[in-house]
Amino acid sequence: MKSIITSSYSVYFNQTAFNELNRHLSETNYSKVFILVDENTKKHCLPLYLQNSKGGKDMKVLEILSGERHKNIATCTTLWQGLSDLDADRKSLLINLGGGVITDLGGFVASTFKRGIAFINIPTTLLSMVDASVGGKTGVDLGSLKNQIGVINQPEMVLVVPHFLKTLGQLQLRSGYAEMLKHGLIQSRHYWDQLRLMTDYNAMDSLIYESVVIKNKIVLEDPTEQNMRKILNFGHTLGHAVESSFLENPERASLLHGEAIAIGMILEAYLSYKLTGLPKNELVEIASTFTKRFGKVAFTDGDVANVLSLLKFDKKNSHGNINFVLLESIGKPVIDVKIPAHMFNEAFAYYKEL
Ligand SMILES: NC(=O)c1ccc[n+]([C@@H]2O[C@H](COP(=O)([O-])OP(=O)(O)OC[C@H]3O[C@@H](n4cnc5c(N)ncnc54)[C@H](O)[C@@H]3O)[C@@H](O)[C@H]2O)c1
Ligand SMILES: [Zn+2]
Repeated sequence: MKSIITSSYSVYFNQTAFNELNRHLSETNYSKVFILVDENTKKHCLPLYLQNSKGGKDMKVLEILSGERHKNIATCTTLWQGLSDLDADRKSLLINLGGGVITDLGGFVASTFKRGIAFINIPTTLLSMVDASVGGKTGVDLGSLKNQIGVINQPEMVLVVPHFLKTLGQLQLRSGYAEMLKHGLIQSRHYWDQLRLMTDYNAMDSLIYESVVIKNKIVLEDPTEQNMRKILNFGHTLGHAVESSFLENPERASLLHGEAIAIGMILEAYLSYKLTGLPKNELVEIASTFTKRFGKVAFTDGDVANVLSLLKFDKKNSHGNINFVLLESIGKPVIDVKIPAHMFNEAFAYYKEL
């Protein structure tokens, strides 16, 4: 797995990742090194990190509670205070060791502390390896509204070490797998087929690599999401609204990010079939791939109404319009599609009947 080197950051894999980290730490004169973990990554991932890193001696560990509901500004305040109490200065480094919550929130804390200190992402979930840790989007939720507060800022480097996944549960692996399927849908029929036919979540190093390459390529072409980067939002406009709706409803068990966007991708594939010429057989293939792996969620009419009311908070909104990314075919996305309002209910009706 070849390293990905760009002008602003690099992505390294496996043992090369630790070697490059050690080289970076010895060449860069950081005043202090902090590592951000949650209770799970402290237990399962920090030991492997410490075994392989030479920069561990004076490192200070900052710990937060795991879970999306802690991805908020209150947690940031605790960390800004913690950094300040431990005399972090502008030459300090924050290493984010964890899933997407840690890399999003840690990236934001680092980007804003004293107007920005360096950070490194070491993703430890499949989702954060193939998606959250690459691309520079950092931030936190505002109440139940996802990722409303944040900045785009690149880490010094991203270290992708699939060995960390050994302790991750199947549901979490499947959540990351949804993002990988998205990469296939927006970029490559061949990759989609490889993923669809894959049977073992624990033997996917080369597929992880392929996803990082796809994500990285798209981000580099359009770092600030003016154009083609929007394709990464396939399944996310409705998927995020579904995720937010379940997050704010105490009677509903919340969905993992990948579970929510799996639903979003079915709904948006239906819209693609109606509006942008996605062939019927490809719609059926997409829907059956996701329902086979992810099952189905039973939506009440109230749920659907709530999801649709949340759509207007989507960050991709501009001038009151919601712009969707749809597909012309598997591997061929179209951006900036406006959807007639009645079609959302139709899409949910299609999902319900699957
Ligand atoms: N910035 C982006 O471009 C981007 C892209 C996609 C998703 N995201 C964000 O990522 C977040 C979701 O990330 P996630 O799915 O990684 O969730 P997460 O960070 O909540 O991690 C999931 C769970 O796994 C635990 N965990 C992490 N690594 C582990 C390991 N190796 N072994 C055992 N347990 C481990 C965590 O403690 C947590 O309980 C969302 O907030 C989403 O908005 C951001
Ligand atoms: Zn996502």
